[in-house]
Amino acid sequence: MDIKNICCIGAGYVGGPTMSVIALKCPHIKVNVVDINEERINAWNDSNLDNLPVFEPGLPSVVEQARGKNLFFTTNVDDCIREAQMIFIAVNTPTKTYGEGKGQAADLKYVELCARKIAEIATDNKIVVEKSTLPVRTAEAIQTILDSTGNGVKFEVLSNPEFLAEGTAINDLFKSDRVLIGGQQTKDGKEAIQKLVDIYAQWIPLEKICTTNVWSSELSKLVANAFLAQRISSINSISAICEKTEADVEEVAKAIGMDSRIGNKFLKSSVGFGGSCFQKDILNLVYISKSLGLDEVSNYWSQIIKINDYQKTRFAKQIMKSLFGTVSGKKITLLGWSFKKNTNDTRESAAIYIADILIENGANICVYDPKVSKQQMLSDLDYLNSRSTEDNKKALTSCSDPYSATHSSHAVAIITEWDEFIEYDWKKIYFNLIKPAKVFDGRNILNRKALEEIGFEVYSIGKAIQKK
Ligand code: UDX
Ligand code: ADP
Repeated sequence: MDIKNICCIGAGYVGGPTMSVIALKCPHIKVNVVDINEERINAWNDSNLDNLPVFEPGLPSVVEQARGKNLFFTTNVDDCIREAQMIFIAVNTPTKTYGEGKGQAADLKYVELCARKIAEIATDNKIVVEKSTLPVRTAEAIQTILDSTGNGVKFEVLSNPEFLAEGTAINDLFKSDRVLIGGQQTKDGKEAIQKLVDIYAQWIPLEKICTTNVWSSELSKLVANAFLAQRISSINSISAICEKTEADVEEVAKAIGMDSRIGNKFLKSSVGFGGSCFQKDILNLVYISKSLGLDEVSNYWSQIIKINDYQKTRFAKQIMKSLFGTVSGKKITLLGWSFKKNTNDTRESAAIYIADILIENGANICVYDPKVSKQQMLSDLDYLNSRSTEDNKKALTSCSDPYSATHSSHAVAIITEWDEFIEYDWKKIYFNLIKPAKVFDGRNILNRKALEEIGFEVYSIGKAIQKK
């Protein structure tokens, strides 16, 4: 029997866009996206599409076309589970902040709660699909929980990790490099895999749909993210060498990227990678390797995180060093707070850590980000627990435009590569700044020569500082 009813538990950055695209491409399937967060569901249902909880180019149009037809956002978890033939689990799996595996292992409590809920509610056979990134062999735990009810309902667990990147999610979903589906290699397992293949085949060419066993699929997701993050840490480590040798990291990246074996993508040196996946997934890989007694493997991967932390700290220290060794009592403007452009997601953004170090050293931070609220910035800082909420409020302000944000600042630092930053009237910003006017380009997006002509002293990641 073809799938006619899908439920997705979790209406976040993965669940929301993915299910919207499935609904659009499969008009014959009813897609219910459920979440326990009522505010989030209300935002998904907002008639003003600018208020969707996830900012993602192209998403409003997809939601507009499918919502209310075959795409529904609701808090009614139980009914949607009951109705569905196929249930996606797309809840968050953050790094554990307590107990065994603290700081490394993925916290699976939300996934477990979902599995228990499905087991409690289901009265007929279901296919359960892991969409969240999970440690290898989680499907086994989910299967055990599902099977523990003993009410005769049969569950087939599939792994279907999502490879979309935020900011380009809709394009990534429309034109995926590949879709990965892992399932049990039994007759029922293969049938379940085929049902999910049939859904994606509505718009993804069959040769791009890759089927594997469950464990390969779960591990592949972790490994894909680890390899991508590894490239960024590799080029960021080289950026430190470039700054001391007058080599230029962009020239080096271009030169090595022209080797087709290396390829030119993901070689952009930066203030350090952020986002909800890279750090979490590598920490997870580190934890799994250690648990398997593979200490050398574990140490190898943990180095990617160390270089990333080093890059963020190095950038903050460079600001302090350039400002004559102290930022105490000085206003520093950060342009960008989200972890990359074209998203309002701030999880693990380098901005949080850079701001924290500068505040610790007495700076007053003023941030402008086109999509992130001051409330979110303060909540990100509070999460680090470095000082009281009151002290964070005193140290960080945000402005609604870049020009007021730079007024009487000692320095401007580009943290996120938002396109609009390139277009600013940098002469106006120059006049706003206390002299010598300094720009720290953590993304290498600005025209350094033009800024130097205006009179700025420019520090760019991976390029030697030009002394006047
Ligand atoms: C990533 C993976 O790309 C995606 O496949 C997976 O499903 C989820 O994790 P995402 O975190 O949304 O996606 O964004 P991505 O484009 O990978 O960027 C992650 C971080 O790396 C950002 O902070 C980005 O600015 C940084 N980055 C990326 C660099 O610093 N340099 C680069 O060359 C590329
Ligand atoms: P991701 O980036 O992986 O999509 P998010 O944190 O953006 O992660 O989204 C996960 C969503 O899952 C959140 O909106 C959260 O409220 C929801 N969620 C977590 N646990 C449950 C649960 N047991 N039932 C329903 N929704 C849940």
